[in-house]
Formats: sequence, structure tokens, C-alpha cells
Amino acid sequence: MRALIIGVALLLGPGVEALAALAPAPAQAQVDAGRRLFARCTNCHEVGAGARNGFGPQLNGIVGRKAGSAPAYAYSPALKQAGFVWNEQKLVAFIRDSEKVVPGNKMRFLSFMSEKQAAEIVAYLRTQGAVAASAAPKR
Ligand code: HEC
Repeated sequence: MRALIIGVALLLGPGVEALAALAPAPAQAQVDAGRRLFARCTNCHEVGAGARNGFGPQLNGIVGRKAGSAPAYAYSPALKQAGFVWNEQKLVAFIRDSEKVVPGNKMRFLSFMSEKQAAEIVAYLRTQGAVAASAAPKR
């Protein structure tokens, strides 16, 4: 519960400022850069309307979403039991080195991304939040 409250608080205010401090680029430019960088994730992850789980879980609304909670995705026990809500800082760290944030998770992906690049991806992912495609039943 505490993590949830912190997550929501970060979503609503200070988190945005923290992210802005991290990457002082204009917001839209940051989102555009993140959209391009997200191409490195799309082998395994989908976002947007109709996003499905693939090799990795769909990432709609990931900022503020509980870790390991995409419906019908077979998470590793480590991520399933992580017990926190994704915020910008956690996502940036996870993109840069997932093992550091959730030891034993099964995302085998070394992004070699700078903090700035990871923050750009997170800025982009923030724009992919309104779509509740995740709950759509699989056929
Ligand atoms: C080679 C496939 C692959 C690539 C590429 C990949 N991921 Fe993942 N990702 C996974 C898998 C598999 C999981 C689930 C890990 C688990 O269950 O332990 C995951 C989990 C995640 C999660 C946690 C989701 C949740 O519901 O808690 C986030 C966030 C994430 N990935 C972001 C990214 C981003 C951003 C990129 C691109 C920079 C990326 N991933 C690239 C395979 C990948």
C-alpha cells in the first residue's frame, strides 16, 4: 500500500519534476526520442491499442502500474513478487540494468542505454497509458 501511495504521488507531481531534471530536453522532443528508442523493445513488448503480451508483457500504462501485473502474462517469480509500483526512477534503472532492480527477473536484455535515453523511453511510455488494451481477452 505504501508503495502504491508513493507511486501515485510520484505520478502526480514530484516525479514529473524529477524526470524533467533528469533530462531537461523539451517534453515533446523527449517523447519523440523515446518513441524511436522504443524500437529496441518491440521485439518483445507492445504498447498502444490492442497491445498484446508477447515474449514480454504489454507495457500500456506501465508508469504507475504494479510490477508483474499484466493480465495473463507468465512472469518470473521474481517480477511477480517484486511488490512495487513502477515509477520513472524504477523504470529508468530497470531499462539500464534490470537485474539490479529485480534480481532474478527473466528479461534478458542489455540495453546499454544512458540515463538520458532510458528517461526518453519512459517519457514515451508515459504517453501510452490511457489504453486499457491489456484486459482484452486473448483469442
Ligand atoms: C528480448 C526480449 C526483451 C526485450 C528486447 C525487452 N524486454 Fe522488457 N521484458 C522482457 C521479459 C521476458 C519481461 C518479463 C520479465 C519477468 O517476468 O521476469 C520483461 C519485463 C519488462 C518490464 C516489467 C513489466 C511489468 O509488467 O512489470 C518492463 C517495464 C520492461 N520489460 C521494459 C522494457 C523496455 C523499455 C525495453 C526496451 C528498452 C525492453 N523491456 C526490452 C523481455 C524483453
